[in-house]
Amino acid sequence: MPTFTRFASSHSTKAKLHEIRIKHQRHCRRDWLFYNLKMKSTPLKRSVINRSIEEAKAAFQQFGIHLPPFAFRQAQEWEQPSADADEIRDCMLGWDATDFGSGRFEQIGRTLFTLRNGTSRKPGYPKVYAEKLLFDPEGQRAPAHFHHAKMEDICCRAGGNILVQLTGVNAEDAPSDQPIFAKVDGVRVQVEPRGIIRLRPGMSVCIPPRTIHQFWAEEGCGIAVSSEVSSVCDDWSDNFFLEPAERFPKIEEDAARTHYLCHEYPTL
Ligand SMILES: [Fe+2]
Repeated sequence: MPTFTRFASSHSTKAKLHEIRIKHQRHCRRDWLFYNLKMKSTPLKRSVINRSIEEAKAAFQQFGIHLPPFAFRQAQEWEQPSADADEIRDCMLGWDATDFGSGRFEQIGRTLFTLRNGTSRKPGYPKVYAEKLLFDPEGQRAPAHFHHAKMEDICCRAGGNILVQLTGVNAEDAPSDQPIFAKVDGVRVQVEPRGIIRLRPGMSVCIPPRTIHQFWAEEGCGIAVSSEVSSVCDDWSDNFFLEPAERFPKIEEDAARTHYLCHEYPTL
């Protein structure tokens, strides 16, 4: 059975977050909510991205998870004129690595691979679902966030356990102090605010829209691989963060690019 734990923030952390939120208020939809903020942070190094993609590939291979051929397409191949991969470019499939502007990739960051997605930004892509594979080294996580439109299942695929922390949002899009209900492998469970669900390999939780979530590999259990099965994912407009965050941060080109990221493909 899933287990739940309730966490409390320290008063000083709350006060600090409040200060930051007020400082960035004019950039936000709400004073407690951050939407793809442009941050003056240290750029994420290309060498870090290259390394993390190789680590992700190795982890997927270790757990017998196979990637499609375009996961191995080298940067130079994307630079040749070709229309055969329009869907990959237009729907932002492929590698994605980000530190969300945190400057602390090992702690606040994510490396993932989008296998399939649709988009309404261009005609011809009616797919209504998406799937991503996520590399979850211990100690790293994405910032807490929620979506207005996307519903997603987070699945623990292999390796260690995945811990998923959930909180509802109220009518003002602020964190709710009320419990919510979630489905863990089709079973309805009650989750207190900031409650944590432990997913062992094979388990999944359904996260409805307007549910704050954050998930990570459980300490001491080793690298995990998770996946996200969802409705169409629009990372340009449907991420609402509880701390300042930039979905696609600036990149410092300190090494040659080995793979284009999903938002970087050259337009030919
Ligand atoms: Fe999400």
